[in-house]
Amino acid sequence: MSKNRVKKEIHLEHSSLKFPLPEGLLKELSAELHSMNEYPSGDDYDTLRTKLAEYTGTPADNILPANGSDEVIEAVTRAFGSKLILIPVPTFSQYEVSANRNGFKKKLVPCLKGYHYQLNYSRDDLKQASLVWICNPNNPTGSPIQREDIINILNDSPGIVVVDECNYEYLGETVVDLIDEFPNLVVSRSFSKNFGLAGFRLGFALSSPRNIHEIAHYCQVFRVNRMAEAAGCKVLKYLDYFQKIWQEIALVREYFISGMKGIGIEVFPSRSNFVLADFVTEEKTRRAWQYLREKNVFTCPAWGEECTGLGKNFIRFTISNKEEMGLVLRLLTDFQKTILE
Ligand SMILES: Cc1ncc(COP(=O)(O)O)c(C=O)c1O
Repeated sequence: MSKNRVKKEIHLEHSSLKFPLPEGLLKELSAELHSMNEYPSGDDYDTLRTKLAEYTGTPADNILPANGSDEVIEAVTRAFGSKLILIPVPTFSQYEVSANRNGFKKKLVPCLKGYHYQLNYSRDDLKQASLVWICNPNNPTGSPIQREDIINILNDSPGIVVVDECNYEYLGETVVDLIDEFPNLVVSRSFSKNFGLAGFRLGFALSSPRNIHEIAHYCQVFRVNRMAEAAGCKVLKYLDYFQKIWQEIALVREYFISGMKGIGIEVFPSRSNFVLADFVTEEKTRRAWQYLREKNVFTCPAWGEECTGLGKNFIRFTISNKEEMGLVLRLLTDFQKTILE
């Protein structure tokens, strides 16, 4: 095993779902191909918004479907970011990328103490900012953010606070219910990580109708293509199928975390579908990443484009099934031995 490459490539670099889509959904979507000569629905995605309203328990007027939650990030930045943007690092890179693209002022606020990630915004920063980012659970650490911390930030912020819940389905905690109470709250969700629709590019924003209108101003009219619209409407019928997968991923994640600790590699406690591992030095991290690549296992290194503000000593592993994660653990056990040789 140690000398051999894994037969089938194992792709753990992106945090998309590593499980197949349900056959029934694929059949339904194949039938949809016949209508691809038409534009998406011209009623501002009414049917899709109604389905999302049922799923989130939020009225349809509070929902804006978008071309992936990446589009939400860009549109929200353009709508609200012109004064000052606060970004809690390490975190998902696109908040900073969008700030830079639009030439907006930003402040990266360090939030990591050892393996503990805690939002660290000062009252003063919050007072100055027009846009504040919170990623829950945080990418790449997988850390959950406490609801009280989010509420405190909402209370202290005159600007817009976005809670990026694109991995909500793994955490199971949301602040969507606070939208009426806090007119400065925007929640962002995705179909990429949880429902396996990363290739379709489907996400959505939830906020007051006023904010939704403001954000929509920076999006195209037909921002969600017709196939993605159909996929979003149909996929929620298969909720049971996906819920089983989310449960399985949580179990395999814990198996992987304890396996990593067992071979002496520190990891962050995670409530997401990925685990961030600390390889201590940049040299060892690069060797581990290369070692895995040579064995056909592809992972997300800290020096890639996924994250802002992460040192070079980390690799993020997206959780797949137990068999694949077991293979990765065995390879890393061998790798640890090569380091000692
Ligand atoms: C925290 C976070 N937000 C947003 C996104 C973008 O997701 P989408 O595929 O919906 O554009 C990602 C993708 O990795 C992410 O990790």
